[in-house]
Amino acid sequence: MKQKVLVTGGAGYIGSHTVLELLNNNYSVVVVDNLSNSSREGLRRVEQITQKTIDFEEIDIRDGDALSRVFERYDIQSVLHFAGHKSVGESVAKPLQYYDNNFTGTLSLCEVMQRFNVYELIFSSSATVYGATTQCPISESAPIGATTNPYGSSKYMVERMLMDLAKSDPQWRIATLRYFNPVGAHPSGQLGEDPNGVPNNLVPFVSQVAVGKLSEVKVFGNDYNTADGTGVRDYIHVVDLALGHIAALQYMEEHQGFEAFNLGTGRGHSVLNIISAFEKYSGQKVPFRIVERRSGDIAECFANPNKAKDILNWSAERDLKEMMEDTWRWQSKNPSGYS
Ligand code: NAD
Ligand code: UFG
Repeated sequence: MKQKVLVTGGAGYIGSHTVLELLNNNYSVVVVDNLSNSSREGLRRVEQITQKTIDFEEIDIRDGDALSRVFERYDIQSVLHFAGHKSVGESVAKPLQYYDNNFTGTLSLCEVMQRFNVYELIFSSSATVYGATTQCPISESAPIGATTNPYGSSKYMVERMLMDLAKSDPQWRIATLRYFNPVGAHPSGQLGEDPNGVPNNLVPFVSQVAVGKLSEVKVFGNDYNTADGTGVRDYIHVVDLALGHIAALQYMEEHQGFEAFNLGTGRGHSVLNIISAFEKYSGQKVPFRIVERRSGDIAECFANPNKAKDILNWSAERDLKEMMEDTWRWQSKNPSGYS
């Protein structure tokens, strides 16, 4: 039986792009996903692009029995763990759902991994674990835990659990990847982000304005202490992010313990920069209006990406032009996403 990489949440936005790069790197993949925020269509397109097949099991990772059956059925060597909820605003309204899915889900996964002697885990964390108090650029050695919402706290709690797990048994090989702001789409235009309802995040909102689904972008505040007064973030192309997972997977195949890596570009862009870059590279007009700050937002957040460069030999290569062009290609070819 060929050894497989298990990808939880592999039908989602970042998971599906990573599955594609795993297949391109000759890994054999089994995806588990409960399709709570995705559909089978993304993976069908990955199979079409790569001309390779993906094993798929529709299960919830909190169902330990169902997960165990997956570990019985396949020879799993390592796990990339994307499954979870990701909306900051929703987490404030429904904290128990977030702690349950993100924390209990990961606990359930780790229990099954331990039972089946699978010890390599790559976890999808977020720059949000650093919270509001950190100076930019943010290094991995910055304190974590000053989180400002249940989503961020659930990621922080998982990281703490994974640190303890790695300490408990040296067989564990765990990397936590702290993503900055993932954007963009596969250059084929076949694969991209398909948010439910009105997008919360800036770039999907901008692209839906450009395609005519929404009327204008609301810019949340222009009185921050930044060059143009609007919020600054470290936007990273989803294909670069996916390749960062391959680098982490390969590194952890050879290294024990727990490691945290920032996955960002190290460059910050303001909201107004993003809107004008999108207009430039899509050729579309993007009307916008300045409104009140969004509660919980910080002025700026960008990575020091040196650790991933030095240790994983990975760095983000795609610039704002590719991020915007690829977003627009996906959005204009698929105005209604996968549906
Ligand atoms: P996504 O919602 O597109 O993908 C998550 C996938 O997990 C979905 O396909 C969903 O159906 C599945 N899922 C959720 N709960 C599950 C469960 N209990 N069992 C099985 N499957 C389940 O989100 P994404 O943007 O691809 O994010 C992937 C991961 O990266 C998440 O853990 C998210 O918190 C993290 N992350 C995302 C961002 C971002 O801006 N997109 C930033 C930082 C971290
Ligand atoms: N923004 C607007 N208008 C919008 C949406 C966003 O002006 O309609 C601004 C925000 O105020 C912020 C910037 O655009 O300054 C980026 O906002 P996003 O919502 O796209 O992203 P966040 O930085 O708030 O958060 C994202 C993910 C989190 C993740 C974090 C990691 O949503 O899950 O990046 O840095 F934790």
